Amino acid sequence: MAPFTGKVVLITGASDGIGAELALLLAQQGARLALAARRLERLDELVARIRREHPAADAVAWRTDVSSEDACRQLVAEVAAHFGGIDVLVNNAGVSAHGYFEQVSDFAYYETVMRVNYFGAMWCTREALPHLRQRRGLVVAVSSLAGKVGVPGRTAYSASKFALAGFCEALRCELRGSGVDVCVVFPGVVATATRVAGFGPDGRPLGESRLREDDAMSAQECARQMLAAMAARRRELVMTAKGRLGLWLKLLAPGLVDRMALRALKQAGR
Ligand SMILES: NC(=O)c1ccc[n+]([C@@H]2O[C@H](COP(=O)([O-])OP(=O)(O)OC[C@H]3O[C@@H](n4cnc5c(N)ncnc54)[C@H](OP(=O)(O)O)[C@@H]3O)[C@@H](O)[C@H]2O)c1
Repeated sequence: MAPFTGKVVLITGASDGIGAELALLLAQQGARLALAARRLERLDELVARIRREHPAADAVAWRTDVSSEDACRQLVAEVAAHFGGIDVLVNNAGVSAHGYFEQVSDFAYYETVMRVNYFGAMWCTREALPHLRQRRGLVVAVSSLAGKVGVPGRTAYSASKFALAGFCEALRCELRGSGVDVCVVFPGVVATATRVAGFGPDGRPLGESRLREDDAMSAQECARQMLAAMAARRRELVMTAKGRLGLWLKLLAPGLVDRMALRALKQAGR
């Protein structure tokens, strides 16, 4: 039997990108999926596809905005009541932001980014923990390499992803011996719509990616690596050899990493 057969997995941000691909991989294993995001029509399409292609799985859509504490509370309560418990919570919902700090004209989005990327995950985790404890379950969080290394032009995003990673690291220690594990994944650049839909310095959607995407990982590959880390209940998964090398370099020569990050942005024409 595959590791997630029959398991109840709640995924936030399942309407697109990495979350949707992860849902499809879990459906192949016959998981019971609670799929949450704001765009219900996209979730409904995914649910229909899962029911068509993976009849052994189960999937239900929940329209949710994780930037609302009440919505997170309601989501987890409804999912637990519907499926009779929760085995895995995947905190994947996230919003991107790009703009040099001194060019930002509307700082309101810094709060929104924090509410979605950090508070939303924290609120869902708090609500789900009693259920996860009952099943010796798993908390998963999707941070980013920008949550390990501060990335120029991404002060709001990096701050939120560092916050998420720090929260998870502390929680993992607190949960030692409880049977609940915490797995944090740190993807590099993944080919999704996240940067196009993310905030620009004026607080409006950027409408374009400001990174070089020619060697971006596919969302499918990212989800595949995530699933393997989840099955192994790994503490962390830093994606790509470049990402792992960057972390070593940050310890040994942090100034060099700063210069490389700036150069990468310049090569992308920013
Ligand atoms: N793509 C990358 O290069 C990359 C790299 C590192 C980390 N990540 C992280 O990976 C995660 C998934 O991103 P992605 O690349 O797959 O981007 P994506 O395709 O834009 O997906 C983001 C998902 O989050 C959901 N979401 C956004 N705001 C939400 C809110 N307020 N409430 C509920 N759901 C919300 C979106 O659904 P709705 O719009 O329907 O709500 C969507 O399903 C994010 O946490 C992102 O920061 C991505």
